[in-house]
Amino acid sequence: MGLSKVKTRFFCTACGQESPKWLGRCPGCAAWNTLVEEPVAPAVAPGVGVRRRDRSETSAPVHIDQAGVTENLRLATGIAELDRVLGGGLVAGSLTLLAGDPGIGKSTLVLQAAHRLAGQGGRVLYVSGEESVQQIKLRASRLGVTGVDLYLLPETNIEHILAAIRDTAPVWVVVDSIQTVYWAELGSAPGNVAQVRECAARFLGLAKDRGVAITLVGHVTKDGAVAGPRLLEHMVDVVLYLEGERHYPYRVLRGVKNRFGSTNELGIFEMRGDGLVEVLNPSAFFLAERSRGVPGSVVVPCLEGTRPFLVEVQALVVPATFGQARRTVTGMDHHRAVVLAAVLDKKVGLHLGQKDIYVNIAGGLKITEPAADLGVVVAMASGWRNWPVHPETVVVGEVGLTGEVRAVGHMDKRLMEAVKLGFKRCICPQQNRKYLKQETGITVVGVETVMEALQAVVGGNDGQGTG
Ligand code: TYD
Ligand code: MG
Repeated sequence: MGLSKVKTRFFCTACGQESPKWLGRCPGCAAWNTLVEEPVAPAVAPGVGVRRRDRSETSAPVHIDQAGVTENLRLATGIAELDRVLGGGLVAGSLTLLAGDPGIGKSTLVLQAAHRLAGQGGRVLYVSGEESVQQIKLRASRLGVTGVDLYLLPETNIEHILAAIRDTAPVWVVVDSIQTVYWAELGSAPGNVAQVRECAARFLGLAKDRGVAITLVGHVTKDGAVAGPRLLEHMVDVVLYLEGERHYPYRVLRGVKNRFGSTNELGIFEMRGDGLVEVLNPSAFFLAERSRGVPGSVVVPCLEGTRPFLVEVQALVVPATFGQARRTVTGMDHHRAVVLAAVLDKKVGLHLGQKDIYVNIAGGLKITEPAADLGVVVAMASGWRNWPVHPETVVVGEVGLTGEVRAVGHMDKRLMEAVKLGFKRCICPQQNRKYLKQETGITVVGVETVMEALQAVVGGNDGQGTG
């Protein structure tokens, strides 16, 4: 009927949202200029027919009482930081997505993990569509990866990759990256939405079918020319993000989805000349360069997943020079910082309306939990009024719009971490203070409002001196 031979639709390269017509802004994820026109292959409805094709047998319904419970077979890579984020190791038959900015260290991490796993006798197949065997070998030598049961395959055609997996029978397959793999039948370029999605679906099918763990590496893309890994998140079992700032050596591995374990676990690494090295004491690492007792600096006991660590929140408050005051925020949600500044302005009467405010999480770390609110508020007040916070004090609590300080989770873990690092005093929500059971080895001051917290900070300075 139609004039054009190939039917096309528009897809968002960031989230995979489909649209019959071009739109400037994606209705799915609100990103601008991410919709691209792609052919739709009628034979392959997204993800459906494909997954079946790799199954060797059809499955019959099983009565719930007859259903066998098998403990997931875990393949511990031996890299403790990675295994913790995975929930104990890679699960056989699972599909994992490892996403991150180009150049952040994804290939390095998987190669190191492959080395460890293969060193324990598990065969690993490393498929690379980005580097030649020589390049991989060169990097591997630099990382000391040698003499283990590790196979390299420079290939981008999915049929060849699937065949190689069947022939080699590895326990773990790494596909670096999913954006380079293509399925010829789709007739479109590698890296477009349909290719990425369909190829991932075929890897998923094979993983379930053969019980092999498969990890897809995905580059986070900025321009929208290549489909991003976000559109695979709902499809895979585990989603890991490797994050960090280019200018800092540390890298954070964050679990954002895990069908076999808890999410929000963090693994922390340092990028060195010989690869990624596990950071076993992140608090000491993040506080290493802290200036003690300077206004605008507050240490906060944060918790990501099950793991507590201390971070330094910094704030600089200066009179605005031109017209509108600026708020520049790095390492936390911008909107949240603006709200906290408004609370200080309105509820404490520190007039910040005409001040430029800069907030930074030292070391380039990103914090997401509201438990850091009070630390941010205290840092702003401290920065503006030149009240240094005592260097042996930590501050934690969620702040509400009326200036109230709300309880946070896992206070005991946060306190233990603070004690471990030699802190003597913790300003925390009164609600948490009330329910602390044992002797904690640290003076815990409970507060109900931001105002009380600021008084406790200043009071603490009088009592302890400013170091
Ligand atoms: P890479 O793993 O190639 O990143 P990705 O696969 O996420 O694109 O790592 C890229 C950067 O890491 C590169 O700029 C150099 C640096 N690097 C080190 O500092 N030390 C090392 O041992 C290795 C292998 C890489
Ligand atoms: Mg790479």
